[in-house]
Amino acid sequence: MLTLGIETSCDETSVAVVRSGKDVLSNIVSSSLPLHKRYGGVVPEIASRHHLEAIAPVFKAALDTAGCDLGQIGAVCATFGPGLAGSLLVGTSFARALAFCREVPLVKVDHVHSHIYAACLGRKVPMAFPFIGFVASGGHTDIFFVRDFNRMELMGSTLDDAVGESFDKVARILGLGYPGGPEIEKLASQGDPGKIRFSCANMKGTLNFSFSGIKTAVLYYTKGRKISRALKTDICASFQKAVAGVLIDKVLSACRAKGAGRLFVGGGVMSNSYLRHKLSGACHSNGIEMFMPAKEHCLDNAAMAAGLGFQLLKLRGGHVKPG
Ligand code: KG4
Ligand code: ZN
Repeated sequence: MLTLGIETSCDETSVAVVRSGKDVLSNIVSSSLPLHKRYGGVVPEIASRHHLEAIAPVFKAALDTAGCDLGQIGAVCATFGPGLAGSLLVGTSFARALAFCREVPLVKVDHVHSHIYAACLGRKVPMAFPFIGFVASGGHTDIFFVRDFNRMELMGSTLDDAVGESFDKVARILGLGYPGGPEIEKLASQGDPGKIRFSCANMKGTLNFSFSGIKTAVLYYTKGRKISRALKTDICASFQKAVAGVLIDKVLSACRAKGAGRLFVGGGVMSNSYLRHKLSGACHSNGIEMFMPAKEHCLDNAAMAAGLGFQLLKLRGGHVKPG
């Protein structure tokens, strides 16, 4: 079955066509990111207006690229939340209209869960449950025990900033651009991660995170100091190391707590090469099989919604009748 995915939870307008929940035939993404850069963060009203303009051409491009027409689509799978209300409204209304006029199921997809599913895209191996799912994005830092795609139990989460948000805030402190993650990663690759000892709150005995403290530590460190370019690279490298350390520590603890030998990760922060490398190494040493998405599937995209929607439809008839 071909499923059509629609993702408009934040600043990316994305439509995808996926076969059998796995094979990505098209995954078109139009981002309004350049329009937000000057404000240092996503402006909801600008994002919504961009979705309104982009959704129809992105939809057409997704069908054209996949080489199919709407008549071949078996279900429409749209992100219904969490996300920006005005942005979600555009995608979900478009999805409802398509499902209604084609008389196919409309599947409501959770955006955070779909980030975990991204690691399944393009995989030939059959799914084996349960496993630990971990999402590191701009809005979420969540660890789940995944019994199946319909039963994801939250084991730990951030108590304040999301991890991507902490990259964005630290980048802002250092006068770098938005989004902060890629900027910090770039500078960190030239810096010394052992130069400054930043540490992340450990939230001992829990699988929760807190990133507001390390952000404040970076702020205090920069106060009254002359920040040369070289020092900036060291700050970025030291910050990135501390954050990666706590993320890896907690996901491994979650695996141990559940005796889980498999880990699926996703979200924008998982496109960070340093984190990918360190987490792969840690999983390897601990005998944990790790699955992570291709970098382009870490960031917001509709293929993950189309794929997860297909699985939900199979599992529970997780759809509402059109109309
Ligand atoms: O998953 P995503 O595209 O959107 C949300 O659902 O939030 O994640 C966006 C977040 C931003 O905070 C961005 O700074 C962060 O992911 N990010 C990164 C990198 N690329 C994007 N963080 C660290 N390193 C990166 N290379
Ligand atoms: Zn996301």
